[in-house]
Amino acid sequence: MPTRGQLSVRSLIARVTGRRRGVEPSAGAVVGLEGLTERLSSHKVTRLALSFLAANDGLHLKDLGLEEMTDDRRAKYEGRAFWNFGSDSFLGLDRHPRVHEAISDALPEWGSHNGASRAFSSPTLTDEAEAKLARWLGVADTFIFPSVTLANMGVLPAIAGSGDLLIVDRESHDSVHQGARLAAAGGARLEQVVTPSPAAVADVMHRSVAKGMVMAIDGVYSMSGKTPPLADLDAAVRGLGGTLYVDDAHGTGVVGPQGRGAAAAALGTLDNVLMVGSLSKAFSCLGGFVTCTPDLKTVLKIRSSTFIFGGPVPPPYLAAICAVCDIFMTPEYDRLLTALRNRTRQLTAGLDRLGLSYHGGGAAIVSVVVGDIEKTFAAGKSLFDRGFYVQSATYPAVPINGGLLRIQVNANHPTTAIDGLLNALGDVASEVQIPMRSRIEPLAASA
Ligand SMILES: Cc1ncc(COP(=O)(O)O)c(C=O)c1O
Repeated sequence: MPTRGQLSVRSLIARVTGRRRGVEPSAGAVVGLEGLTERLSSHKVTRLALSFLAANDGLHLKDLGLEEMTDDRRAKYEGRAFWNFGSDSFLGLDRHPRVHEAISDALPEWGSHNGASRAFSSPTLTDEAEAKLARWLGVADTFIFPSVTLANMGVLPAIAGSGDLLIVDRESHDSVHQGARLAAAGGARLEQVVTPSPAAVADVMHRSVAKGMVMAIDGVYSMSGKTPPLADLDAAVRGLGGTLYVDDAHGTGVVGPQGRGAAAAALGTLDNVLMVGSLSKAFSCLGGFVTCTPDLKTVLKIRSSTFIFGGPVPPPYLAAICAVCDIFMTPEYDRLLTALRNRTRQLTAGLDRLGLSYHGGGAAIVSVVVGDIEKTFAAGKSLFDRGFYVQSATYPAVPINGGLLRIQVNANHPTTAIDGLLNALGDVASEVQIPMRSRIEPLAASA
């Protein structure tokens, strides 16, 4: 089954390898975009990735163009229907009538985009959305960005600069690392920890003198669905005079009491940490936000480049964010959250019965451990052929030979679809020889 771009992948590889062997002599250097493409394609890691794509035509299921999607996560690709276990809209709010109504009502009033950096002007809907988010989370204020990536790239350099120490958990999301690199370019000393623990924090801290200290970490790791020991880390970081910064993109709306996220669940309050939430995953809108106080927000507005020099969340989506905050205050949200957690438990209980190793389950991500890259792709493809799409997560998203079948559960998945996935996983496990083990991480307390 060819995926988009397969032909160009093959021709790129043929061109790059041909030139290296001198098989395809050229009259002169290739210039323009073709030359640029060729130069980039010949870089070691890119060439390896292209070779892998060409050799495993149709196996990797990346860059799928979905033709259809229903409320209960039935989707179509190249005319074939399947259950989609690869959607971050964990609560199915992307299909909610109140969310749709908010977008369509705001559109004629505010237009599709207000076309200015918020540093100049923005609709009052922005303040309304930030206040509603703050009320839901029980914090003094929040600060919205057009994405979590832009929040991380705007806030991390704003809170860790020259003379400061920024500790980053290696398993954090790529956008946390991008933000940290910008902070380092601005003079912060950057340290990575591989196993985040109070001892690791103290060790890094004692090796240097710093004006200020921040530790950045995910609330729910995006590939494995696991949660790090946030309460211990917060105590250690605060004990050393620093601040914990938690990218809780996958915890927002689904983990902990009232879905306030992994940080709130672990710490009880968000008063002393910076929690970054996603407005596009469980929220099913667009954007990211960071919790703060009004004074801190004023300072962040002055210090954050992605706020000053970037555009805003479009007004219809600000209205949708307000609608989702309202839904979070209704019994319907409790029902959705219960449905999501029941389905997640149904899945993890089934995996336990099958004897498959998995991570996560405290949020809506459950990742079955496969290991070998090719087996991970083969298992994903075999599940797809049986009518179930899950994401084959491989290097560099996970360590080499740390391949995972990443399953995203949805409140709207019929329970029969989860049973079907479990049956298919049982078959695929023997077909592909997925290593069997007992469960390797207990369910997080948030469920
Ligand atoms: C932990 C984490 N942070 C950030 C992001 C990026 O979010 P956005 O698409 O809003 O930039 C993701 C996306 O999956 C994520 O999992």
